[in-house]
Amino acid sequence: MKTVVSYSLEDTQKFAKEWLASLSQRDEATIVGLYGNLGAGKTTFTQAVARELGIEEPTTSPTFVIEKLYQTKHPFFKRLIHIDAYRLDAGRELTALDFETLVENPNNLILIEWPENVKEILPESHLKIRCEFVDETTRKFEFE
Ligand SMILES: Nc1ncnc2c1ncn2[C@@H]1O[C@H](COP(=O)(O)OP(=O)(O)O)[C@@H](O)[C@H]1O
Ligand SMILES: [Mg+2]
Repeated sequence: MKTVVSYSLEDTQKFAKEWLASLSQRDEATIVGLYGNLGAGKTTFTQAVARELGIEEPTTSPTFVIEKLYQTKHPFFKRLIHIDAYRLDAGRELTALDFETLVENPNNLILIEWPENVKEILPESHLKIRCEFVDETTRKFEFE
């Protein structure tokens, strides 16, 4: 486990870059739960990851569309999938998004905000990042 304190968006960008570099390809998709309250920085962290992956289109929060897919320029994470489960209930709707198919593909990096809402269908082995609001410009990120 590693805890970092970010004092700016630049710090968060740097931590996202370091975190991404620490990942290796798995047999299936890399699934990441972003835990933390509203405003803790889950979407901001995802946007930072997207930037590191060479995604140029803006990654707005998918709250109203639930799921967004992006093609990347990364050597093995060919696709970033950003899911906001805030309005999802018990994973049933995620099943409707064909989550199982996404999980089978080792080229997918799947970042999920509000993973608590879909824990029934999240593999036990998913990576966990805990995001925490400290003050206006400070956030804490804990990588498990
Ligand atoms: N050091 C920091 N790291 C990340 N975000 C920060 C930081 N300081 C301030 N912020 C701001 O905090 C807010 C986090 O919002 P957001 O990422 O949407 O949170 P969440 O998705 O967890 O609800 C953004 O407006 C962002 O600009
Ligand atoms: Mg968010």
